Amino acid sequence: MANPSLLILPGDGIGPEVMTEVRKVIDWFGTRGMTFDVSEALVGGAAYDAHGTPLTDETMEMAQNVDAVLLGAVGGPKYDNLDFSVKPERGLLRLRKEMDLYANLRPAQCFDALADFSSLKKNVVAGLDIMIIRELTSGVYFGEPRGIFTEGNERVGINTQRYTESEIARVARSAFELARKRDNRVCSMEKANVMESGVLWREVVQRIHDDEYPDVELSHMYADAGAMQLTRWPKQFDVIVTDNLFGDMLSDLAAMLTGSLGMLPSASLGLPMANGRPKALYEPVHGSAPDIAGTGKANPIACILSFAMALRYSFDAGAEADRVDAAVEKVLADGLRTADLLGEEGVEPVTTSQMGEAIVAALAAS
Ligand code: NAD
Ligand code: IPM
Ligand code: MN
Repeated sequence: MANPSLLILPGDGIGPEVMTEVRKVIDWFGTRGMTFDVSEALVGGAAYDAHGTPLTDETMEMAQNVDAVLLGAVGGPKYDNLDFSVKPERGLLRLRKEMDLYANLRPAQCFDALADFSSLKKNVVAGLDIMIIRELTSGVYFGEPRGIFTEGNERVGINTQRYTESEIARVARSAFELARKRDNRVCSMEKANVMESGVLWREVVQRIHDDEYPDVELSHMYADAGAMQLTRWPKQFDVIVTDNLFGDMLSDLAAMLTGSLGMLPSASLGLPMANGRPKALYEPVHGSAPDIAGTGKANPIACILSFAMALRYSFDAGAEADRVDAAVEKVLADGLRTADLLGEEGVEPVTTSQMGEAIVAALAAS
Protein backbone atom coordinates (compact mmCIF):
# COMPACT_ATOMS: atom_id res chain seq x y z
CA MET A 1 0.00 0.00 0.00
CA ALA A 2 1.20 3.52 -0.77
CA ASN A 3 2.50 5.62 2.10
CA PRO A 4 0.05 8.17 3.48
CA SER A 5 0.66 11.62 2.02
CA LEU A 6 1.20 14.81 3.96
CA LEU A 7 1.45 18.38 2.62
CA ILE A 8 3.45 20.68 4.88
CA LEU A 9 2.81 24.43 4.69
CA PRO A 10 5.19 26.11 7.16
CA GLY A 11 3.99 29.66 6.44
CA ASP A 12 5.38 32.74 8.17
CA GLY A 13 7.09 33.93 11.36
CA ILE A 14 7.50 31.08 13.83
CA GLY A 15 5.57 28.75 11.48
CA PRO A 16 8.71 27.38 9.78
CA GLU A 17 10.54 27.25 13.14
CA VAL A 18 7.96 25.02 14.84
CA MET A 19 7.49 22.97 11.67
CA THR A 20 11.21 22.09 11.65
CA GLU A 21 10.61 20.37 14.98
CA VAL A 22 7.55 18.54 13.69
CA ARG A 23 9.69 17.22 10.81
CA LYS A 24 11.98 15.63 13.41
CA VAL A 25 9.00 13.80 14.90
CA ILE A 26 7.81 12.71 11.44
CA ASP A 27 11.32 11.52 10.57
CA TRP A 28 11.48 9.56 13.81
CA PHE A 29 8.28 7.72 12.91
CA GLY A 30 9.91 7.02 9.53
CA THR A 31 12.75 5.18 11.28
CA ARG A 32 10.09 3.04 12.98
CA GLY A 33 8.40 1.91 9.78
CA MET A 34 5.70 4.57 9.57
CA THR A 35 6.68 6.60 6.53
CA PHE A 36 4.79 9.53 5.06
CA ASP A 37 5.15 10.93 1.56
CA VAL A 38 5.85 14.51 2.54
CA SER A 39 5.60 17.44 0.16
CA GLU A 40 6.08 21.08 1.07
CA ALA A 41 4.77 24.36 -0.33
CA LEU A 42 4.42 28.04 0.51
CA VAL A 43 1.41 29.68 2.13
CA GLY A 44 0.64 33.13 3.53
CA GLY A 45 3.16 35.95 3.33
CA ALA A 46 5.85 33.55 2.09
CA ALA A 47 3.65 32.63 -0.90
CA TYR A 48 2.77 36.27 -1.47
CA ASP A 49 6.47 37.22 -1.59
CA ALA A 50 7.21 34.47 -4.11
CA HIS A 51 4.04 34.46 -6.23
CA GLY A 52 2.01 37.59 -5.40
CA THR A 53 -0.77 35.48 -3.85
CA PRO A 54 -1.05 33.89 -0.37
CA LEU A 55 -2.04 30.54 -1.92
CA THR A 56 -1.40 29.48 -5.50
CA ASP A 57 -3.92 27.32 -7.37
CA GLU A 58 -1.23 24.67 -7.60
CA THR A 59 -0.85 24.52 -3.80
CA MET A 60 -4.64 24.49 -3.41
CA GLU A 61 -4.75 21.52 -5.77
CA MET A 62 -2.02 19.73 -3.81
CA ALA A 63 -3.97 20.29 -0.58
CA GLN A 64 -7.09 18.77 -2.14
CA ASN A 65 -5.21 15.64 -3.12
CA VAL A 66 -3.21 14.66 -0.03
CA ASP A 67 -4.35 12.63 2.95
CA ALA A 68 -3.67 15.53 5.34
CA VAL A 69 -2.27 19.05 5.40
CA LEU A 70 -0.12 20.37 8.24
CA LEU A 71 0.17 24.17 8.52
CA GLY A 72 2.46 26.31 10.72
CA ALA A 73 1.10 29.86 10.85
CA VAL A 74 0.51 32.79 8.52
CA GLY A 75 0.70 36.55 8.77
CA GLY A 76 2.95 39.30 10.05
CA PRO A 77 3.27 43.08 10.29
CA LYS A 78 5.01 43.24 6.89
CA TYR A 79 1.70 42.26 5.28
CA ASP A 80 -0.73 44.19 7.47
CA ASN A 81 -1.43 46.90 4.90
CA LEU A 82 -1.93 44.65 1.89
CA ASP A 83 -5.26 44.54 0.15
CA PHE A 84 -7.63 42.07 1.82
CA SER A 85 -7.67 39.81 -1.21
CA VAL A 86 -3.95 39.01 -0.91
CA LYS A 87 -3.42 39.13 2.86
CA PRO A 88 -1.64 36.02 4.25
CA GLU A 89 -4.73 35.11 6.28
CA ARG A 90 -6.73 34.79 3.04
CA GLY A 91 -4.54 31.84 2.07
CA LEU A 92 -5.62 29.97 5.18
CA LEU A 93 -9.26 30.97 4.79
CA ARG A 94 -9.24 29.73 1.19
CA LEU A 95 -7.86 26.35 2.28
CA ARG A 96 -10.57 26.02 4.93
CA LYS A 97 -13.34 27.07 2.57
CA GLU A 98 -12.38 25.13 -0.54
CA MET A 99 -11.55 21.97 1.40
CA ASP A 100 -14.89 22.50 3.20
CA LEU A 101 -13.29 21.96 6.62
CA TYR A 102 -16.36 22.76 8.65
CA ALA A 103 -15.47 21.20 12.00
CA ASN A 104 -12.50 22.73 13.78
CA LEU A 105 -11.53 20.69 16.85
CA ARG A 106 -9.61 22.70 19.43
CA PRO A 107 -8.84 20.63 22.50
CA ALA A 108 -7.71 22.45 25.65
CA GLN A 109 -5.94 20.08 27.96
CA CYS A 110 -3.95 21.14 30.98
CA PHE A 111 -0.84 19.02 31.47
CA ASP A 112 -0.20 18.37 35.19
CA ALA A 113 3.27 19.90 34.98
CA LEU A 114 1.78 23.18 33.76
CA ALA A 115 -1.12 23.51 36.20
CA ASP A 116 0.73 26.41 37.88
CA PHE A 117 1.18 28.34 34.62
CA SER A 118 -2.34 29.40 33.95
CA SER A 119 -3.31 32.82 35.17
CA LEU A 120 -6.14 30.99 36.98
CA LYS A 121 -5.79 29.08 40.23
CA LYS A 122 -4.30 25.61 39.99
CA ASN A 123 -7.43 23.79 41.22
CA VAL A 124 -9.49 25.52 38.51
CA VAL A 125 -7.36 24.15 35.65
CA ALA A 126 -5.63 20.97 36.94
CA GLY A 127 -6.87 17.96 34.97
CA LEU A 128 -8.78 20.14 32.50
CA ASP A 129 -9.76 18.34 29.29
CA ILE A 130 -12.29 20.13 27.11
CA MET A 131 -12.91 20.15 23.37
CA ILE A 132 -14.10 23.25 21.55
CA ILE A 133 -15.66 22.58 18.16
CA ARG A 134 -15.66 25.73 16.10
CA GLU A 135 -17.67 25.96 12.87
CA LEU A 136 -15.02 26.98 10.35
CA THR A 137 -16.43 27.57 6.87
CA SER A 138 -19.30 29.97 7.34
CA GLY A 139 -20.67 32.66 9.66
CA VAL A 140 -19.42 36.22 9.70
CA TYR A 141 -16.03 35.18 8.25
CA PHE A 142 -17.62 34.41 4.89
CA GLY A 143 -21.13 35.94 4.84
CA GLU A 144 -22.16 38.37 2.09
CA PRO A 145 -22.49 41.30 1.77
CA ARG A 146 -19.09 42.31 3.06
CA GLY A 147 -16.80 45.20 2.38
CA ILE A 148 -16.20 48.87 3.06
CA PHE A 149 -18.79 51.03 1.29
CA THR A 150 -19.62 54.70 1.12
CA GLU A 151 -22.94 55.76 2.57
CA GLY A 152 -23.67 59.47 2.25
CA ASN A 153 -20.57 61.30 3.37
CA GLU A 154 -18.97 58.52 5.38
CA ARG A 155 -17.78 54.94 4.97
CA VAL A 156 -19.39 51.88 6.43
CA GLY A 157 -17.70 48.53 7.12
CA ILE A 158 -19.99 45.54 6.64
CA ASN A 159 -19.72 41.86 7.49
CA THR A 160 -22.63 39.49 7.59
CA GLN A 161 -23.35 36.68 10.01
CA ARG A 162 -25.06 33.95 8.02
CA TYR A 163 -25.78 30.30 8.80
CA THR A 164 -27.90 27.79 6.92
CA GLU A 165 -29.65 24.94 8.74
CA SER A 166 -27.46 22.35 7.06
CA GLU A 167 -24.26 24.16 8.07
CA ILE A 168 -25.41 24.14 11.68
CA ALA A 169 -26.63 20.55 11.53
CA ARG A 170 -23.38 19.08 10.25
CA VAL A 171 -21.16 20.72 12.86
CA ALA A 172 -23.67 19.78 15.57
CA ARG A 173 -23.38 16.12 14.47
CA SER A 174 -19.57 16.37 14.70
CA ALA A 175 -19.95 17.63 18.28
CA PHE A 176 -22.38 14.89 19.32
CA GLU A 177 -20.25 12.16 17.71
CA LEU A 178 -17.19 13.38 19.54
CA ALA A 179 -19.03 13.73 22.84
CA ARG A 180 -20.02 10.06 22.64
CA LYS A 181 -16.33 9.17 22.66
CA ARG A 182 -15.68 11.47 25.64
CA ASP A 183 -17.91 12.40 28.59
CA ASN A 184 -21.09 12.49 26.48
CA ARG A 185 -21.89 16.17 27.13
CA VAL A 186 -22.27 19.04 24.66
CA CYS A 187 -22.74 22.71 25.46
CA SER A 188 -23.78 24.83 22.47
CA MET A 189 -22.94 28.55 22.55
CA GLU A 190 -24.49 31.40 20.55
CA LYS A 191 -26.31 34.65 21.23
CA ALA A 192 -29.92 33.64 20.60
CA ASN A 193 -30.95 36.57 22.80
CA VAL A 194 -29.83 39.13 20.20
CA MET A 195 -29.12 37.36 16.89
CA GLU A 196 -31.53 35.54 14.57
CA SER A 197 -28.65 33.32 13.42
CA GLY A 198 -28.30 32.39 17.10
CA VAL A 199 -31.99 31.50 17.36
CA LEU A 200 -31.66 29.21 14.35
CA TRP A 201 -28.41 27.75 15.69
CA ARG A 202 -30.05 26.82 19.01
CA GLU A 203 -33.13 25.37 17.31
CA VAL A 204 -31.17 23.19 14.86
CA VAL A 205 -28.70 21.91 17.48
CA GLN A 206 -31.65 20.95 19.71
CA ARG A 207 -33.43 19.19 16.82
CA ILE A 208 -30.35 17.18 15.78
CA HIS A 209 -29.95 16.22 19.43
CA ASP A 210 -33.57 15.14 19.91
CA ASP A 211 -33.77 13.23 16.59
CA GLU A 212 -30.34 11.62 16.44
CA TYR A 213 -28.41 11.93 19.71
CA PRO A 214 -30.92 11.87 22.60
CA ASP A 215 -28.39 9.90 24.69
CA VAL A 216 -25.97 12.88 24.78
CA GLU A 217 -26.50 15.53 27.46
CA LEU A 218 -27.09 18.90 25.73
CA SER A 219 -27.10 22.38 27.23
CA HIS A 220 -27.22 25.85 25.66
CA MET A 221 -25.42 28.97 26.82
CA TYR A 222 -25.10 32.53 25.54
CA ALA A 223 -21.54 32.93 24.28
CA ASP A 224 -20.74 35.87 26.56
CA ALA A 225 -21.84 33.87 29.59
CA GLY A 226 -19.85 30.96 28.15
CA ALA A 227 -16.68 33.08 28.21
CA MET A 228 -17.36 33.90 31.85
CA GLN A 229 -18.04 30.25 32.75
CA LEU A 230 -14.87 29.14 30.94
CA THR A 231 -12.79 31.27 33.30
CA ARG A 232 -14.95 30.62 36.40
CA TRP A 233 -15.04 26.82 36.30
CA PRO A 234 -13.88 25.40 32.94
CA LYS A 235 -14.09 21.79 34.13
CA GLN A 236 -17.89 21.97 33.93
CA PHE A 237 -17.54 21.56 30.14
CA ASP A 238 -16.84 18.50 27.99
CA VAL A 239 -17.55 19.45 24.34
CA ILE A 240 -18.42 23.04 23.39
CA VAL A 241 -19.87 23.67 19.92
CA THR A 242 -20.04 27.21 18.59
CA ASP A 243 -19.85 29.38 15.50
CA ASN A 244 -16.81 30.61 13.61
CA LEU A 245 -16.20 33.94 15.37
CA PHE A 246 -17.23 32.93 18.91
CA GLY A 247 -15.12 29.78 18.46
CA ASP A 248 -12.10 31.85 17.45
CA MET A 249 -12.30 33.93 20.60
CA LEU A 250 -13.32 31.22 23.05
CA SER A 251 -10.49 28.95 21.91
CA ASP A 252 -7.83 31.62 22.48
CA LEU A 253 -9.34 32.12 25.92
CA ALA A 254 -9.25 28.36 26.54
CA ALA A 255 -5.61 28.28 25.43
CA MET A 256 -4.60 30.34 28.42
CA LEU A 257 -6.25 27.81 30.74
CA THR A 258 -3.54 25.39 29.60
CA GLY A 259 -0.67 27.76 30.37
CA SER A 260 0.26 29.09 26.92
CA LEU A 261 -1.11 29.63 23.44
CA GLY A 262 1.99 27.71 22.37
CA MET A 263 0.37 24.51 23.71
CA LEU A 264 -2.89 24.36 21.74
CA PRO A 265 -3.23 22.14 18.63
CA SER A 266 -6.17 21.92 16.28
CA ALA A 267 -7.73 19.71 13.62
CA SER A 268 -9.98 21.06 10.87
CA LEU A 269 -12.05 18.26 9.41
CA GLY A 270 -14.38 18.01 6.42
CA LEU A 271 -16.27 15.29 4.60
CA PRO A 272 -14.78 11.84 4.00
CA MET A 273 -12.69 11.44 0.83
CA ALA A 274 -12.87 8.42 -1.49
CA ASN A 275 -10.36 6.59 0.73
CA GLY A 276 -12.59 7.08 3.78
CA ARG A 277 -10.28 9.60 5.45
CA PRO A 278 -11.77 13.00 6.21
CA LYS A 279 -10.47 16.04 4.33
CA ALA A 280 -8.18 17.45 6.98
CA LEU A 281 -5.85 20.28 7.90
CA TYR A 282 -3.93 20.37 11.18
CA GLU A 283 -2.46 23.53 12.67
CA PRO A 284 -1.57 25.09 15.99
CA VAL A 285 -4.12 27.59 17.31
CA HIS A 286 -1.44 30.26 17.67
CA GLY A 287 -0.30 32.63 14.95
CA SER A 288 3.06 33.60 13.49
CA ALA A 289 4.16 35.38 16.71
CA PRO A 290 6.19 38.11 14.96
CA ASP A 291 7.36 39.41 18.35
CA ILE A 292 9.49 36.30 18.94
CA ALA A 293 10.14 35.04 15.39
CA GLY A 294 13.81 34.27 14.78
CA THR A 295 14.74 34.20 18.49
CA GLY A 296 14.45 30.47 19.21
CA LYS A 297 11.76 31.20 21.79
CA ALA A 298 8.80 29.61 20.00
CA ASN A 299 7.16 26.67 21.71
CA PRO A 300 6.84 23.86 19.12
CA ILE A 301 4.45 21.77 21.25
CA ALA A 302 1.18 23.07 19.72
CA CYS A 303 2.43 22.13 16.25
CA ILE A 304 3.78 18.75 17.40
CA LEU A 305 0.45 17.99 19.10
CA SER A 306 -1.29 19.01 15.85
CA PHE A 307 0.68 16.27 14.10
CA ALA A 308 -0.47 13.90 16.88
CA MET A 309 -4.05 14.89 16.02
CA ALA A 310 -3.30 14.01 12.37
CA LEU A 311 -2.14 10.58 13.51
CA ARG A 312 -5.39 10.16 15.45
CA TYR A 313 -7.97 11.60 13.05
CA SER A 314 -6.44 11.00 9.59
CA PHE A 315 -4.20 7.98 9.94
CA ASP A 316 -6.02 5.69 12.37
CA ALA A 317 -2.91 5.74 14.53
CA GLY A 318 -4.36 6.44 17.97
CA ALA A 319 -1.61 4.49 19.76
CA GLU A 320 1.09 6.52 18.00
CA ALA A 321 -0.77 9.75 18.81
CA ASP A 322 -0.92 8.71 22.48
CA ARG A 323 2.81 8.11 22.31
CA VAL A 324 3.47 11.67 21.08
CA ASP A 325 1.16 13.08 23.76
CA ALA A 326 3.01 11.03 26.39
CA ALA A 327 6.40 12.24 25.13
CA VAL A 328 5.23 15.86 25.50
CA GLU A 329 3.92 15.09 28.98
CA LYS A 330 7.27 13.52 29.88
CA VAL A 331 9.47 16.46 28.82
CA LEU A 332 7.19 18.87 30.66
CA ALA A 333 7.27 16.68 33.77
CA ASP A 334 11.08 16.67 33.46
CA GLY A 335 10.94 20.46 33.78
CA LEU A 336 11.73 21.51 30.20
CA ARG A 337 10.28 24.93 29.46
CA THR A 338 10.33 27.17 26.41
CA ALA A 339 10.33 30.90 27.14
CA ASP A 340 6.52 31.19 27.08
CA LEU A 341 6.35 28.76 30.02
CA LEU A 342 8.66 30.51 32.44
CA GLY A 343 7.79 31.51 35.95
CA GLU A 344 9.33 28.84 38.15
CA GLU A 345 12.35 29.95 40.11
CA GLY A 346 15.75 28.96 38.74
CA VAL A 347 14.43 27.49 35.48
CA GLU A 348 16.39 28.39 32.34
CA PRO A 349 14.40 28.23 29.10
CA VAL A 350 15.24 25.77 26.34
CA THR A 351 15.15 26.77 22.68
CA THR A 352 12.59 25.67 20.11
CA SER A 353 14.94 23.04 18.71
CA GLN A 354 16.03 21.78 22.14
CA MET A 355 12.36 21.23 22.97
CA GLY A 356 11.77 19.38 19.67
CA GLU A 357 14.82 17.19 20.19
CA ALA A 358 13.83 16.37 23.77
CA ILE A 359 10.40 15.26 22.58
CA VAL A 360 11.98 12.99 19.94
CA ALA A 361 14.31 11.56 22.61
CA ALA A 362 11.33 10.92 24.89
CA LEU A 363 9.56 9.19 21.99
CA ALA A 364 12.56 7.01 21.36
CA ALA A 365 12.73 6.06 25.04
CA SER A 366 9.02 5.24 25.24
P1 NAD B 1 -0.04 35.11 17.85
O1 NAD B 1 -0.71 33.83 18.23
O2 NAD B 1 0.89 35.06 16.71
O3 NAD B 1 0.75 35.68 19.13
C1 NAD B 1 0.12 36.06 20.35
C2 NAD B 1 1.14 36.03 21.50
O4 NAD B 1 1.41 34.65 21.83
C3 NAD B 1 2.49 36.64 21.12
O5 NAD B 1 3.01 37.31 22.24
C4 NAD B 1 3.35 35.44 20.78
O6 NAD B 1 4.72 35.62 21.00
C5 NAD B 1 2.78 34.35 21.69
N1 NAD B 1 2.89 33.04 21.06
C6 NAD B 1 2.10 32.54 20.07
N2 NAD B 1 2.50 31.32 19.72
C7 NAD B 1 3.55 31.01 20.49
C8 NAD B 1 4.42 29.88 20.58
N3 NAD B 1 4.26 28.79 19.82
N4 NAD B 1 5.42 29.91 21.49
C9 NAD B 1 5.59 30.97 22.28
N5 NAD B 1 4.81 32.08 22.25
C10 NAD B 1 3.80 32.10 21.35
O7 NAD B 1 -1.21 36.18 17.59
P2 NAD B 1 -1.13 37.69 17.06
O8 NAD B 1 0.10 38.34 17.58
O9 NAD B 1 -2.45 38.25 17.36
O10 NAD B 1 -1.01 37.55 15.49
C11 NAD B 1 0.21 37.58 14.76
C12 NAD B 1 -0.05 37.23 13.31
O11 NAD B 1 -0.44 35.85 13.23
C13 NAD B 1 -1.18 38.02 12.65
O12 NAD B 1 -0.81 38.31 11.35
C14 NAD B 1 -2.38 37.07 12.70
O13 NAD B 1 -3.32 37.30 11.67
C15 NAD B 1 -1.69 35.76 12.51
N6 NAD B 1 -2.41 34.60 13.05
C16 NAD B 1 -2.35 33.47 12.29
C17 NAD B 1 -2.95 32.30 12.75
C18 NAD B 1 -2.83 31.07 11.91
O14 NAD B 1 -2.01 31.02 11.03
N7 NAD B 1 -3.63 30.06 12.16
C19 NAD B 1 -3.60 32.30 13.99
C20 NAD B 1 -3.63 33.48 14.74
C21 NAD B 1 -3.03 34.63 14.26
C1 IPM C 1 -7.11 31.18 13.89
C2 IPM C 1 -6.71 32.54 13.34
C3 IPM C 1 -7.39 32.77 12.01
C4 IPM C 1 -8.88 32.95 12.26
C5 IPM C 1 -6.86 33.90 11.12
C6 IPM C 1 -5.38 33.88 10.97
C7 IPM C 1 -7.52 33.83 9.76
O1 IPM C 1 -6.98 33.54 14.26
O2 IPM C 1 -6.91 30.19 13.20
O3 IPM C 1 -7.61 31.12 15.01
O4 IPM C 1 -9.33 34.04 12.61
O5 IPM C 1 -9.60 31.96 12.10
MN1 MN D 1 -7.66 32.80 16.22
